[in-house]
Amino acid sequence: MTRKVGVIGLGHVGTAIANYLLVTGAVDELVLVDTNELKVNAEATDFEDAAANLNWHSKVVVNDFAALADADVVVSSVGAISLQNDDAKHDRFVELKFTSQAAKEVGTHLKEVGFNGVLVSITNPCDVITALYQRFTGLPTDQVIGTGTLLDSARMKKAVGQALDIDPRSVTGYNLGEHGNSQFTAWSQVRALGHSLPELAETEGLDLDELAEVSRAGGYTVFHGKHYTNYGVASAAVRLINVILNDANAELPVSNWNEKYQTYLSYPAVVGNNGVVQQLKLNLTDEEEQQLAQSANYIKTRFDDVYA
Ligand code: 2OP
Repeated sequence: MTRKVGVIGLGHVGTAIANYLLVTGAVDELVLVDTNELKVNAEATDFEDAAANLNWHSKVVVNDFAALADADVVVSSVGAISLQNDDAKHDRFVELKFTSQAAKEVGTHLKEVGFNGVLVSITNPCDVITALYQRFTGLPTDQVIGTGTLLDSARMKKAVGQALDIDPRSVTGYNLGEHGNSQFTAWSQVRALGHSLPELAETEGLDLDELAEVSRAGGYTVFHGKHYTNYGVASAAVRLINVILNDANAELPVSNWNEKYQTYLSYPAVVGNNGVVQQLKLNLTDEEEQQLAQSANYIKTRFDDVYA
């Protein structure tokens, strides 16, 4: 079986994802699509210049949208990071006018070529754009997934790991809701060292609000220093892509359709080669359920504003 992935949008994030997939031998064929012909051809040539020094062979195809028809996964890393600025405090909705139009064009084109794989969307504002992709492609909701708070949960695990001096992979739990300012850390679900984080906060003197802020504002901190983010979100995307390609049935806090709230938001789901297999049912606290409802309402309101 040929492992085939398309990456649409070869900016900082798209090129990081493409390079990660090629150097790890995760794909047999990679289709690169970008409106900037010069850039996408230069990226492809640069990737081909690496081939003689890699342990894997991958075929690289450039700007052939029809070649996406039989891709297992198509990634949307289209963005307008130039619209971001420090004053926006990393409000990911500053890109909405540009990215919602891009989602309409790309989603419609994917439908036209008959794409029937899994669409992974990174494009911000992640949850609204993921929902738009589902509408414009007409794919089943399970086949359209946003990276969502998979990245923010990694930031939370980093913060907790640093506070406890343990590997972030030894921290379990989630940030939920919007990949944006209305997200929250569901501390009732976070565990490390065999205990829940609320217990450890007591015994280790941890400030959970401070740790939550690190994960919520993590993107802004990076943006402030380098004017974009890419490696963190690219790693989240590649983990999700590999889970799909390997039919891993892995549990991940990704942006997926939530029937109760009638919107896309990040909530843990089991993911396999056809996308979402099942959604978890968490025992959240009343406060956490309220935070989730508020975040869902914010996303849905912003989606309704842009999807006439
Ligand atoms: C981030 O938080 C790109 O929205 C992404 O880094």
